[in-house]
Amino acid sequence: MLMLREANLRDVEKEYAFMAALPADENGFTNPWHGVTRGAFADTALGDMIAWSRGERLPEGYVPETFYFLWDGEEIVGQFRLRHWLCDSLREGAGHVGYSIAPAYRRRGYATQGLRLLLRIAHGVVPEEEIYLRVNRDNPASLRVMLRCGGVIHHEDEEKIYVRIPLMKTMDTIMARHSYRGKYLSEPVPREHLTKIMEAGLAAPSGCNKQTTSLIAVDDPQVLERLHAVIDPPIGTTAPAMICVLTKRIIAYRDRCYSVQDYAAAIQNMLLAIVALGYESCWIEGHITDEDRIGRKMADILGVPQDMELVCFLPVGRAAEAVKAPVKKPFDQRAWYNGYAGGEA
Ligand SMILES: Cc1cc2nc3c(=O)[nH]c(=O)nc-3n(C[C@H](O)[C@H](O)[C@H](O)COP(=O)(O)O)c2cc1C
Repeated sequence: MLMLREANLRDVEKEYAFMAALPADENGFTNPWHGVTRGAFADTALGDMIAWSRGERLPEGYVPETFYFLWDGEEIVGQFRLRHWLCDSLREGAGHVGYSIAPAYRRRGYATQGLRLLLRIAHGVVPEEEIYLRVNRDNPASLRVMLRCGGVIHHEDEEKIYVRIPLMKTMDTIMARHSYRGKYLSEPVPREHLTKIMEAGLAAPSGCNKQTTSLIAVDDPQVLERLHAVIDPPIGTTAPAMICVLTKRIIAYRDRCYSVQDYAAAIQNMLLAIVALGYESCWIEGHITDEDRIGRKMADILGVPQDMELVCFLPVGRAAEAVKAPVKKPFDQRAWYNGYAGGEA
């Protein structure tokens, strides 16, 4: 399974081996830590990579940049870098993305697959609507990778070709969402992403705008452990975060209450935001609202008042396994024009 993992101290040995073999400058992909010793690597190179991704210790004129290693199973095969936004010099120059595949792994499609993974992450990070890339004229292989990932050539000069890739649009995100029930990577989900996901949930429509849905994101490993202790059969246990969905039966008008529709809309918005940010999830409701009242047990752990029900939770994290699409009935068995099953009205 191929995955992008942020530079981190746990993987220092393999990260060092990769970076040590990377030239100082190859096709415009620079390695400012070329030649650094193993001793200095963790403190300086890796320390800088982690700090830069948080916008700290940045050299003058740099924007925050996250360093990802592309892993195929147990091996690092490449490095991808994502600059969080464009300043003037990046807009005219190197753009958002840099990547390099280790020589031993070239011409096997790693660059294309890695760039596709990075684009999913970029969607939740960069404010621009297109990813800017630049490639040397004498590097047609890399240009092909960019074009395969949806890039279009924007302009050229004597040495370089400038490419733009439009970011995932709403329809792409909708079609890329599938219920994920596999294992998750342990890397934490940043609070800013959890907040974005919850904002997407709260932005959903609600009947008569009664806003009957509330949310609790859980990222504290001890609280997660307590919650999973009451979820039987277990599901989503390896996810580093979950979002719990609460609902309150508020009457919209007369005896009409739309709380179920309200929370369903909120959940779907969140599932899409989760995918747009490069994570996976699954709508877990049937599991916890059955006769064994797991939802109430979870609600009690979280201090939820008795007049609110915990109806669903969404595990959130990066997939450690392949995401599988379920079989759906063909379009023309479920959707028609101007009458049921294609019959005229
Ligand atoms: C109301 C509702 C309850 C669900 N409850 C569960 C659940 O408890 N456990 C689970 O694994 N999936 C649950 N799902 C996910 C469905 O199984 C899944 O959406 C369906 O199989 C279609 O797959 P897809 O989401 O990949 O399109 C639920 C979905 C909905 C809409």
